[in-house]
Amino acid sequence: MAKIGLFYATDTGNTRKIAKQIKKRFGGDDIQLFDVAKTTPDAMLDCEALIVGTPTLGDGELPEPLAEFLGQLDSSHLHSKPVALFGLGDQVGYPAEFVDALGITYKKLRKLGAHLIGSWSADGYEFEKSKALHDGAFVGLVLDQDNQADLTDERLDEWLEQVKPELLGATVAG
Ligand SMILES: Cc1cc2nc3c(=O)[nH]c(=O)nc-3n(C[C@H](O)[C@H](O)[C@H](O)COP(=O)(O)O)c2cc1C
Repeated sequence: MAKIGLFYATDTGNTRKIAKQIKKRFGGDDIQLFDVAKTTPDAMLDCEALIVGTPTLGDGELPEPLAEFLGQLDSSHLHSKPVALFGLGDQVGYPAEFVDALGITYKKLRKLGAHLIGSWSADGYEFEKSKALHDGAFVGLVLDQDNQADLTDERLDEWLEQVKPELLGATVAG
């Protein structure tokens, strides 16, 4: 049984690569990866904690498979599980829709009563607008492989240090 389920969407593979790096950083069998294009929300039922990752596509839009996946999701899939979010975007190419899909995902999950963790400072990014900003901070980890790939390792380490105890705590307690 998966303890932590990492559900991701991807178009050109960046988000899958990050998902694999997160898995590696957890080590062992603590975490299982699911491409949302190839699974349904029922796969979340076996998970005690969740990570959801997505790029932003179009003009500030969700990838189609994630939109479909979220459309099938209900509160029974989420229960009181901790859920940490991450998003990929391009702050130079899309400064007015930067990582909007992260914000859209957050809004949907919050509406379903998810226990969301892992907000992230917006310092160090340059953009005009983002739906992923709430009270001055991002609602999850933000990575920009197009312009700041050199910062990704450090950002992943810092964010995982923050969310890991709660995600793994849930798997022990649960
Ligand atoms: C057609 C297209 C549209 C995009 N639209 C946005 C956008 O609206 N906002 C944003 O922050 N990034 C946008 N991006 C950047 C992607 O989110 C970024 O390149 C990401 O790393 C892609 O991840 P993936 O390889 O997992 O699909 C767009 C990229 C493409 C190719």
